Amino acid sequence: MSHAEDHEGTRRDFLYYATAGAGTVAAGAAVWPLINQMNPSADVQALSSIRVDISGLEPGTQLTVKWLGKPVFIRRRTEEEISEARDVDVDSLPDPFARNANIDEGADASDENRALDEQEEWLVMMGVCTHLGCVPLGDAGDFGGWFCPCHGSHYDTAGRIRRGPAPENLPVPTARFDDENTIVLG
Ligand code: FES
Repeated sequence: MSHAEDHEGTRRDFLYYATAGAGTVAAGAAVWPLINQMNPSADVQALSSIRVDISGLEPGTQLTVKWLGKPVFIRRRTEEEISEARDVDVDSLPDPFARNANIDEGADASDENRALDEQEEWLVMMGVCTHLGCVPLGDAGDFGGWFCPCHGSHYDTAGRIRRGPAPENLPVPTARFDDENTIVLG
C-alpha cells in the first residue's frame, strides 16, 4: 500500500462539493477559511501526492480539494463548456501560455493543452487567483468559468484569464488519471 493510500479513509473528509448549487458557489470565497478548519490533520495536508475520488462528479460540477495547503479545482465540464473553451482564438488571450505543469513550458493556452484528458472533459487547476491569491468562484464571471471577486478577474471555462488584473491563467498542477475514477495530484 502506498503512502497516499494509507490515508484513503481520511482523505474523503476534506473533499467537498463546491458547485453543488448556486448558493454554495456564491459563498466560495468566504467558505474557504471554514473548510481549512475542517481539515482533519496536518499530515494529510502535507502529503505531496494525493489521490482524489472523482466518481461522484457529474458534468457541470466541480470538486475542490486541498493540496499542499492550497485549493485545487477539479471540474468535469459540460459539452458546452468544452466547446466554448475550444472556440477561443489563443492569440486573443491575455496570457497565451498553457501554464500546465504536465506539458512543455512554452505550450500555448489552447483548450487541449489545459485539459487533463483527450476528450477535454476534465480540468484540474490551482484555485488561486494569479493576481493576489484569492480563491475564485466557480460558475461565475463574464466568461462562464471562474470569477475572482477581490479585484474582478474573469476566467473562462478553461481557467484562462480573460479580463481583469490577473496576469496569468490559473495554473494546472502535476496531475494524472490513475484509473477512470481517480485523479492523482502531485
Ligand atoms: S486577487 Fe483575484 S483579482 Fe485580485
